[in-house]
Amino acid sequence: MKKITEKKEAKHNAHSFLSIQDAMKQGSGSVAIRGWIHRERGSSNIKFIVLRDSSNIIQCVIEKAVVGEEKFKIADKLQIEASLEVFGDIKEDKRAPTGYEVHVKEVVVVGECDTFPITKDQGTEFLADNRHLWLRSRKMTAILKVRSTVFGAIHEYFRGQGFYEYQSPMFQSVQCEGGSTLFEVDYFKQKGVFLAQTWQLYAEPAIFGLEKIYTIAPSFRAEKSKTSRHLTEYWHAEMEFAWSTFDEIINHGEKVIKHVIKKVLETNKPELEILGRDITKLEPSLNKPFVRITYDEALKILKEKSKMNVEWGKDLRTIEEDELVKNFDRFVIVTNYPKIVKAFYMKEDPHNRDVVQGTDFLAPEGYGEIIGGSQREEKLEEIKKRLVEMGEKVSEYEFYLDTRKYGSVPHGGFGLGVERLISWICGLENIKDAIPFPRTMIRWKP
Ligand code: 4AD
Ligand code: MG
Repeated sequence: MKKITEKKEAKHNAHSFLSIQDAMKQGSGSVAIRGWIHRERGSSNIKFIVLRDSSNIIQCVIEKAVVGEEKFKIADKLQIEASLEVFGDIKEDKRAPTGYEVHVKEVVVVGECDTFPITKDQGTEFLADNRHLWLRSRKMTAILKVRSTVFGAIHEYFRGQGFYEYQSPMFQSVQCEGGSTLFEVDYFKQKGVFLAQTWQLYAEPAIFGLEKIYTIAPSFRAEKSKTSRHLTEYWHAEMEFAWSTFDEIINHGEKVIKHVIKKVLETNKPELEILGRDITKLEPSLNKPFVRITYDEALKILKEKSKMNVEWGKDLRTIEEDELVKNFDRFVIVTNYPKIVKAFYMKEDPHNRDVVQGTDFLAPEGYGEIIGGSQREEKLEEIKKRLVEMGEKVSEYEFYLDTRKYGSVPHGGFGLGVERLISWICGLENIKDAIPFPRTMIRWKP
């Protein structure tokens, strides 16, 4: 055992490994690469292995005449997903999957592999049960790279705009987005402890010190619906700031989404290609201003263009949102919703007491609501009244209501569903693929 380790370390020191991408950039001469077997086929004298690492894939050719009888026998037995170190010469070859080929001089097996459970054309349930293995697929790897860019771009945007990163607790003692999607936790047998639906009620107190804050954190919703847009645990990018106007909140929403699209297009074209995403569907939202309409105008468009009658005062349902965005090639920002369909903290429109300064950003192509936000109601009595109407115990909200007692200022913010944005950017059929281990009402394993 000791000997093998020594031998491996010696190899390691003698060669500096290149990523597959960098090896292809080098284009010729000798290279050392390492990764996992993505595909393999062979005959009695020659074996083709497509090796995968985080950067790309490359075809490796192992010939008996070059590596010798014994090594060839070992290589010939290798199965998909075994891990290898490969040493050889790289050459351009138009027939190879990525245009280059490594002619192998030596191969070291690092980790052998049992027959890999995932083969072609397996059902979604099987892939979900084997999520830990499916993560290494080219599809999931491509999505996870886009995801990484999206997270980075959100941080970059808010920090660039002078926002502080700030965290709320995940165990919370109040609801914010309605009791029906609250997860109650067994907190040392204590009642009334919930997982965060949003950071908002714990963010508003912090703007008195920091003024401009943002976060990216998990939010939890006990969603009983099995849709392609809902997770029970999702990542929520939220922002809140003091002295805001409603327009400024909306402008930040548009600008952060544009920044994310720009970064993904700069960084992840190869991944979008692997995913078969048509990037001309993303470009209008980067290059043109988002469409801005009021709820009333949305009802008018639905009526005139889609023959859909929505009664004033009803929330827009998924089918109506999907129908509405069909009229546009980019994001649609809907504002001024009826007060009765929106959350208790949204500010009454000063010109119309029946509507609130609340907004939903609807993605193109029927990907639904990506952002929900608002200017916050400042009137203490109004908030209390709405909490009572909801059947909430106002005393539980004392800490929150203090924000309206001690030097209250106009403020507001929004929440952006990160997986929803990733779903649209990648053109995914289901939001579950936008997160490594999706959680839904019926899926919490592995
Ligand atoms: O519209 P929501 O409920 O707004 C809030 O939570 C506010 N407190 C945010 C704020 O102003 N700070 O949620 C915001 C966004 C939605 O627009 C949607 O993109 C996403 O969170 N979202 C979900 N994403 C995945 N799965 C779910 N179950 C989601 N529920 C909401
Ligand atoms: Mg919403």
